[in-house]
Amino acid sequence: MRSIGWKILCLLAPLSGCNSSVLSYKPNDLHAASLTHESADSSPKAAASSVAEWLEKWFGTIDSPIWPAPMADISVVNMQAVERCAGPVGRLEDKVERGIFRKHCVTCHGLSGDGRGPAALFLDPYPRDFRRGTFKFKSTPSGSKPTTEDLQQVLRHGIPGTSMPSFQALEESEEFANDVEDLSQYVSFLAIRGEVERRMLTKLLRDSEPLTTESQWPLDILRSVVEKWKDAPNQALPASSIPSWITDPTKSKERFEAIAKGKELFGSELTACSKCHGPSGLGDGASQDYDEWTKDWTVLAGIDPKQPGAWKVMKPFGALKPVIAKPRNLQWGGLHGGSDPASIYKRIVLGIEGTPMPPVARSSNSNPGLTEEEIWCLVGYVQELGRPQPISKSSQDQTTESSLVMRGDKGE
Ligand code: HEC
Ligand code: HEC
Repeated sequence: MRSIGWKILCLLAPLSGCNSSVLSYKPNDLHAASLTHESADSSPKAAASSVAEWLEKWFGTIDSPIWPAPMADISVVNMQAVERCAGPVGRLEDKVERGIFRKHCVTCHGLSGDGRGPAALFLDPYPRDFRRGTFKFKSTPSGSKPTTEDLQQVLRHGIPGTSMPSFQALEESEEFANDVEDLSQYVSFLAIRGEVERRMLTKLLRDSEPLTTESQWPLDILRSVVEKWKDAPNQALPASSIPSWITDPTKSKERFEAIAKGKELFGSELTACSKCHGPSGLGDGASQDYDEWTKDWTVLAGIDPKQPGAWKVMKPFGALKPVIAKPRNLQWGGLHGGSDPASIYKRIVLGIEGTPMPPVARSSNSNPGLTEEEIWCLVGYVQELGRPQPISKSSQDQTTESSLVMRGDKGE
């Protein structure tokens, strides 16, 4: 059976129930193309279709998503919520609205969650392709999945500074009160399906593992992805208590000292913050790189994203022009993942997965790095950088006076 290989499955694909009236999840042609780049005799689109077809039996279609039967004993997403989000916009028998992902999200994220909705081309950063299973603004470390609460936070607050809108208003209305929760479930579902798809393609095309109806390896991939999502809540960073100088306005002397320490750390070799964010946090450091969603199909496929036009060989497979993942301008006055101290702390300690922003080195017995106290000094300094500049001399108080000193030179 192994010798039959996936190519035969592909040949059979058009005969086996590919009903054109069913709206299927779009195959991940781009990942297949990046794995077969420069190999003349393989057809990435055929491979991608064969995997997508295999997945249909596990995850269903856009109009009728299902939970993979072999995972019936592991509950990770609420399928009632998923069914409500997917499918066409309309009402279910009990008058509950359905199709809410199509209503609110597809213009940017696309029907399959591939980040290739009709508006995608015009946005920077591009809308997220959920199929990599990687998320940026979360409370878990790199390599772990976000918690449901992390996803809901992003939906509630949006991502300020990007086109990702806030959907808080839904929660505030009686009719749509459950939408944010349900949408977070559908994002998880799309990410699970998408990651299983990517990993199956890698196995098939890079490791040349044959895919037949008897293959067991897809099940191992499915189980490992689903278990990671199940494990996410156990990976969340324990809350660190916020030092009082951050919240108590009477502690301005302590605050001044902590921020000065933060500024020093920001420019130090140990943290390397200024290497990317620039000496005064304007995002103008020497290091400029791409995010993992871009590197996936450029660097990994041997295409230099910096070389003008080189990326265009991947355009027929859905690639968008590579854009640098710019280090944040910390003087802009807002942060994408939240400007409150607890959010900034998470970004510094955990890094931002999928982007060049690394987690800070933390000190332990064997590691040189920052202590908890020093990390909070950095949080204070990042907050200070984002503080609005005083408009006139007369409106300056003690804190803004110090803020001018702290921020270094030119603001924006
Ligand atoms: C107008 C375009 C637009 C719409 C509409 C939109 N998004 Fe987004 N979304 C984005 C962009 C752009 C990003 C990427 C931001 C970034 O990378 O920093 C994003 C990122 C995300 C993320 C990733 C968060 C993370 O931590 O990595 C999630 C989850 C998400 N969107 C869910 C949704 C859902 C669900 C909807 C519909 C309810 C939706 N988005 C509607 C543009 C949009
Ligand atoms: C290798 C480059 C690099 C280094 C080193 C680095 N950053 Fe970043 N940082 C980035 C990039 C790129 C982003 C934007 C990520 C994105 O696309 O959302 C970022 C984003 C951030 C954000 C913004 C989060 C938000 O919610 O908007 C903060 C805060 C931040 N960095 C602080 C720091 C601090 C403090 C240090 C040092 C401990 C540091 N960074 C080191 C590249 C770097």
